[in-house]
Amino acid sequence: MMKIGIDRIGAYVPSEVLRAEVLSEARGIPVAKLKQGLGVHAMAVVPPWEDTVSLAANAALRALGSDVSPEEIGLCIVGTESGVDHSKPTAIFVHELLGLPSNCRTYEVKHACFGGTAALLTAMDWIASGSARGRKALVIASDIAKYPPGSAGEPTQGAGAVALVVSENPALVEMDRTCTGVFAGQVHDFWRPLDQTQAIVDGKYSVDCYLEALEHAFADYAHQRAGIEESSVPLSDRFARLIFHAPFPRMAGKAHAKLVVQDWKSTPARAATLPDDLTELVASDAMARVDPTLWAARLIGNTYTASMYFGLAGTLECEAATLEGEQLGFFSYGSGCCSEFFAGRVVEGAAQIAAGIGLADLLAKRKEVSMAEYERHHAKADLRAEANPEGPGAHFAGPIYFAGTVDEKRTYASQGRGASVAG
Ligand code: HMG
Repeated sequence: MMKIGIDRIGAYVPSEVLRAEVLSEARGIPVAKLKQGLGVHAMAVVPPWEDTVSLAANAALRALGSDVSPEEIGLCIVGTESGVDHSKPTAIFVHELLGLPSNCRTYEVKHACFGGTAALLTAMDWIASGSARGRKALVIASDIAKYPPGSAGEPTQGAGAVALVVSENPALVEMDRTCTGVFAGQVHDFWRPLDQTQAIVDGKYSVDCYLEALEHAFADYAHQRAGIEESSVPLSDRFARLIFHAPFPRMAGKAHAKLVVQDWKSTPARAATLPDDLTELVASDAMARVDPTLWAARLIGNTYTASMYFGLAGTLECEAATLEGEQLGFFSYGSGCCSEFFAGRVVEGAAQIAAGIGLADLLAKRKEVSMAEYERHHAKADLRAEANPEGPGAHFAGPIYFAGTVDEKRTYASQGRGASVAG
């Protein structure tokens, strides 16, 4: 079977951040609730010169780096639920900003946080079908997570983008194409009407929907797997790391607990050795296999489509050398809902490439903002904003930024190149 997967990964976050301590004091929420209860230590704040397009383009530039030429890309898909236009896709702005070829198929997909995964799986099918003719796909997950100020969802906001170069004989993660587990079903847990920039969410119900989807998607995965191989080792124990969609980091802990208990109990050899109280066992397993994947989510917040892929980028950046040859398990959930459990293997030699991801460095260089600055940006996020005469702040990592709307057309510019691009 053709080897297909993630050849390069680029991660990008906006250049400002609000610390949990600042939000806690302003809203009168105990800081322990944010840090321990939700797992949120800081959240990305989007200044007016950054948007879903510029986040996507900057992540894509980092993914291509100097190793992949834009000419090699034959498919560009952006998964997002916070696009800048109901008709014009985020992907076509990225197409121009990166100089992708005119014969590159380019579009946007949406299913809440599942959009990035839908794009990845479609790109893999495009390569497997032969349509790629040796070319690579650029898959980008880019989002700004926004809830009303003072709401229960507010501490779980965030923003960022992750771009994946998907190819044959990938250098980072070879995806397991033998099976995946899917669960989809109509639920009203989280949505955003067309005229609104902030999501409506039935928070506690959404957590239940996520966990129910996980249960069914993993059961589907286990069913498929059982038809391929027999083993007395619980399925979930075969993954060195379990990377979950993390709307807030503690959600990944709840998901892990649900998954391993279900899996261990359904494996007779393992079930026989389980203590009555599983609390300590589950906690130590989570510390070993889930906690190392969450450090970026704790400092960025929810990034919707990109959330699980920040987990992957952070894991590869810190641990690729020890994980080479190991299996990773992924669970992607998009409200509404569609979810999928799938797997991949870290390729031998991945550490050399993963060393250049640079996510920790990017996070360390962000400017910490006050509550007043955060609230100003939150209130002013106007998709039709005119050019910001001051341009990006000195702390902007960029290089691509939103340069304002001219004659109802969005324009972008690159700090390095100084070129203005009309959308
Ligand atoms: P809340 O009102 O903050 O909930 O809402 P809570 O009062 O139950 O507190 C949360 C946790 O903090 C609890 O822990 C408390 O015990 C703990 P748990 O019982 O769950 O383990 N806590 C404390 N801990 C330490 N010290 C304290 C303290 N006080 C309380 N002093 C909720 C939480 C997640 C509902 C809210 O933040 C929300 O609505 N978030 C947005 C929705 C969301 O993230 N849903 C997740 C599942 S849906 C999904 O993932 C899809 C999504 O990404 C969108 C998409 O697909 O596009 C959202």
